[in-house]
Amino acid sequence: MQRSVQPRLIANRFRDSFGRQARVFQAPGRINIIGEHTDYSGGLVMPAAIDRSCVVAIAPNGSRRLEVVAGDLDRSATLDLDNLTPTGTWTDYVAGVASVLMAPGIPVVGADLWIESDVPIGAGVSSSAALEVASTLALLAVAGVSADGPQVARWAQAAENGFVGMPCGIMDQFASANGVDGSAIMLDCRSLAFEPVAIPAGASFLLVDSMVRHTLVDGEYRARREDCEAAARTLGLALLGDLDEADLPAALEQLTGNPAKRCRHVVSDIGRVRKAAAAMKTGDLEALGQLMSLSHASLRDDMQVSDPQVDILAEIAQRTPGVLGARMMGGGFGGCIIALVSNENAAAAQLAIQAEYGDIIGKQPDAFVCRAVAGAGEVSL
Ligand code: GLA
Repeated sequence: MQRSVQPRLIANRFRDSFGRQARVFQAPGRINIIGEHTDYSGGLVMPAAIDRSCVVAIAPNGSRRLEVVAGDLDRSATLDLDNLTPTGTWTDYVAGVASVLMAPGIPVVGADLWIESDVPIGAGVSSSAALEVASTLALLAVAGVSADGPQVARWAQAAENGFVGMPCGIMDQFASANGVDGSAIMLDCRSLAFEPVAIPAGASFLLVDSMVRHTLVDGEYRARREDCEAAARTLGLALLGDLDEADLPAALEQLTGNPAKRCRHVVSDIGRVRKAAAAMKTGDLEALGQLMSLSHASLRDDMQVSDPQVDILAEIAQRTPGVLGARMMGGGFGGCIIALVSNENAAAAQLAIQAEYGDIIGKQPDAFVCRAVAGAGEVSL
């Protein structure tokens, strides 16, 4: 997986295609080090924005239409600002953002947009959040409105929830909009308070794509969310993330079946985020890696959002020399695993995992080491 998106080239393509200069906005994809399926329960997460991004070049066109070109997909579409309805395609991310911004009266104007992204699609690194956040910044800019990162994330999430129809939490959009160079961010998804936690020197995060893609994932995700809400209701809590880890044993006596399992995962993973932050601050990579591997087991057994092939890949990674821990990442049911590996072992570990897993699936899985970067913003050319 090579980087392919360069803002200057995209600005040039916009000029060649639309005949004038554009402003250019960039929003990154994200990894999540730990704290999975906890955001919609108001829990803690530890994502980082990464050096793969979606770039949107934009200039107003004096109409009531968005003329959108997805340069990398070789597709284009016209969206009528006065009649935005979901189509179930990629344009919903852009139309959804426009619709969300117009609802409180932001004066979104007609514009031409050229979009390209090198965030892999369906790999669990939030290509859709990157597109939503970049589109939000672009549409706000031509409307002459400014907003802070947390607000941008809220609007982008609202587009995904209300227009695209995916009931995601706020982690992905928040990480893309508010990432900090060289750091992960420990985010409290209830209050949106966050703290940058520096990635320890010597630590690399390696992503390996299981190459598994499932349809109907949104339905599974919604069901997990409903299980968590049911558990919270039984416990008399607004959100499951409000449960103290010390009160977990008593809470589990009141729950049965899936809500009990989901509760155990959510509360224990929130605890692991706190421990992971402490391990990162002291540079204890062994401890961080163990927490990541424990998180995988909990996602597999209690949250039940993994996949047999993803489990195999995580197990291969966990026993590869130089790897300190590995787990599934993102919503689940396929996509990338994330492995913590010491810098000097990263390249060899990547090749070893790709070779062993590649033998099993009969093709070379995509893989790359990522870097934590700053969140979304305008690119000065
Ligand atoms: C997806 C969602 C996020 C989060 C993760 C699981 O990426 O978009 O909001 O719930 O799954 O942690």
